[in-house]
Amino acid sequence: MSETIPSGTDHLPQSVSVERRQISEADSRRANGPDWDRYADEYQATHGAFLGDTGFIWGPEGLSEDEAGALGPVAGRRVLEVGSGAGQCSRWVTARGGNGIGLDLSMRQLQHSRRIDEETGVVVPSVVGTATQLPFADDSFDVVFSSFGALQFIADLPAALSEAARVLRTGGRFAFSITHPTRWSFPDDPGVEGLTASQSYWDRTPYVETDPETGTPSYVEHHRTLGDWVEVLAGNGFRLVALKEPEWPEKHDRTWGGWSRTRGLLIPGTAVFVADLG
Ligand SMILES: C[S@@+](CC[C@H](N)C(=O)[O-])C[C@H]1O[C@@H](n2cnc3c(N)ncnc32)[C@H](O)[C@@H]1O
Repeated sequence: MSETIPSGTDHLPQSVSVERRQISEADSRRANGPDWDRYADEYQATHGAFLGDTGFIWGPEGLSEDEAGALGPVAGRRVLEVGSGAGQCSRWVTARGGNGIGLDLSMRQLQHSRRIDEETGVVVPSVVGTATQLPFADDSFDVVFSSFGALQFIADLPAALSEAARVLRTGGRFAFSITHPTRWSFPDDPGVEGLTASQSYWDRTPYVETDPETGTPSYVEHHRTLGDWVEVLAGNGFRLVALKEPEWPEKHDRTWGGWSRTRGLLIPGTAVFVADLG
């Protein structure tokens, strides 16, 4: 669903072929790293002001962490952001006295992060890496979070959850936002066409775009149902403490991929899971 995410494919050329098919973790990563490198400049130019250089929003509805309080207190805490992009959320953490660290698959996204570090003077140390193999020691963080970061782009979700649990201390907080799973039942259209369910909610077959020139996958997304998310959290020792489904604010009128006022007033677009380890 090319624009199910508030991310990368508003630019989708018509020649790209789109299908639902199985794809491995390695191939998902091989597709999405270069895709985010290609798209990063446009993403930051289009959405950077809405995100805010030191802002923290959980999704296109504009729910801020100031409102949500999903991370709990961050001052003095070691906080890892997975799929950190240009580090806006981690900069919010650091500005509030936390030790924010970013990790992202895309070098170009991290170059934007460095640029904003220099512009704002609020610096987020960041590393290139993948959510399924975190380059950190066990128990190194009090909080791990992801705002529309890696989790819906990876095939091996159990590996990512196991890694989050490994680097968190017992009692640590794990919070993340994703496209609300129910959105996968609808065409990815911000207009009224996007309001009629047309695909099975229970079809977990990944969404894959293929580059017509190379014949290789160029963008991948993975769908899980709400029940799948609860199960994988519980299976990795997490206790779900909240599932936030931000409502579309009355005066908000911004279209971001498949998110719009038209759809947002009727169906949820974002799910924010909040869980504690152990
Ligand atoms: C929609 S952007 C969100 C970035 C940032 N959280 C924000 O709100 O702008 C998704 C980010 O996830 C990153 N990403 C995708 N797959 C990843 C993976 N396997 N591991 C780490 N990051 C990944 C992308 O490079 C991209 O920067």
